[in-house]
Amino acid sequence: CNPGGPGGGKAGVADGVSPVVVAGCQELVLNDGHIKQYMDAFLENVKRGLGKATNPSAIVKCFPTFVQDLPNGTETGKFLALDLGGSNFRVLLVELAGGESHMDSKIYVIPPSIMTGPGEDLFDFIAECLSDFAVTKGVNDQLLPLGFTFSFPLQQVGLTKGILERWTKGFNCAGVIGKDVVKLLEDALARRGDVKIDVCAVLNDTTGTLMSCAWKNRDCKIGLILGTGTNGCYLESQANAELFDEPDQGSGKVIINLESGAFGDDGALDFCRVEYDEIIDKRSINPGRQKHEKMISGMYLGDIVRLAALRFTKEGVMFGGKSSPLLETEDKFETRYVSEIESDLPGVYTNAKRICDELGLSHAIEQDYQNLKYICECVSKRAADLCSAMLAVLMNKMGEKKVVVGIDGTLYRNHPNISNWMKQKIAQLVNPGISFELMLSEDGSGRGAALVAAVAHRVKMENQG
Ligand code: GLC
Repeated sequence: CNPGGPGGGKAGVADGVSPVVVAGCQELVLNDGHIKQYMDAFLENVKRGLGKATNPSAIVKCFPTFVQDLPNGTETGKFLALDLGGSNFRVLLVELAGGESHMDSKIYVIPPSIMTGPGEDLFDFIAECLSDFAVTKGVNDQLLPLGFTFSFPLQQVGLTKGILERWTKGFNCAGVIGKDVVKLLEDALARRGDVKIDVCAVLNDTTGTLMSCAWKNRDCKIGLILGTGTNGCYLESQANAELFDEPDQGSGKVIINLESGAFGDDGALDFCRVEYDEIIDKRSINPGRQKHEKMISGMYLGDIVRLAALRFTKEGVMFGGKSSPLLETEDKFETRYVSEIESDLPGVYTNAKRICDELGLSHAIEQDYQNLKYICECVSKRAADLCSAMLAVLMNKMGEKKVVVGIDGTLYRNHPNISNWMKQKIAQLVNPGISFELMLSEDGSGRGAALVAAVAHRVKMENQG
């Protein structure tokens, strides 16, 4: 329980934070009772997602990924990887050899009109980028195996076939839901006719992250993304994955893409959601959906802080009661500001001052910076606690003595405290005898995609030979 705020106890209440702000932020602080309620509900949701009879109505979908084998370090070859899932699209050329990887990549900015336009335009855009990249790198006349990281809820029918269940984050392209995204990619490439590819796998970024870390550390059995969106995956025994009807290929395991961002869509998180969460959900592109993600991930965190700061300003407690047009505008308080403000050393408000200036709040005084930093801490600590509780549920369910969690995503990478907060919180929540480690992933979506493609290739060869 954190009665005093994000840091716990008195230490969390930085000097100078207005008592009204501390009191007003209390609703963002999760106590032991909240965490317990969350953990019980999340476990229940995972079980429902895994069960054949309960899955159709389950909220946390627990999609089997068809990835059953972790890498063993012998994966070799040259692969292409596509990474679609955030605000940028990336194409990569990955070379694996002797446990080392070499990557060359290019980032393409996805125009907002493409993110919400017709699906055909999105896949034409992807095909165009892939062609541009292949030509630039001189690999356009080679038939390279490709891993497609497509970070949205996919009902996989095989390693190379995935039906989009719904769009999440900022995407909403018409005519894709219910279709196989690998087929849509292949069709778009066929329309161009200038690049040859061999799609070996379509995967989620969480799976790529798990695989990328497992390549370095065999104990990695959970993957987590804390970026634009948030989601987790873990290695489940095939017997529990009732939707996965494939023959046991030896490992007896399969990676489950939880799609945990949807947790709470049936109201299960209402006990700890607050007014800001409601506002953000209502005006989002997908109201009523991804409620867990909207409390945690980079696409929303900054705006939660903005709404809280705006409320305190309207109450006359911050910025002398005077807001600014930017503070009143959706999404103008970027999530990177949250990380930057919390990175200011105690008592020094360099980033906070610069950000207030940028937002037209140059009338801010030191107490405003203190209040703002406190709000940021409460909002990001809540996100860290929710992720920690989720990971602890998975660890307790898996019952392994040692688990490494591979983690990727800009929020996790850039935030100064989230990783430490998570270590502390998970340690409080896991069953005795379980030890764990949080491992920063090295490019899960790129190297992970190549690894999934490579492992699929290796297993196929082993089975043939
Ligand atoms: C969203 C997507 C999910 C992805 C996550 C992180 O929650 O639905 O598939 O893993 O964002 O990118």
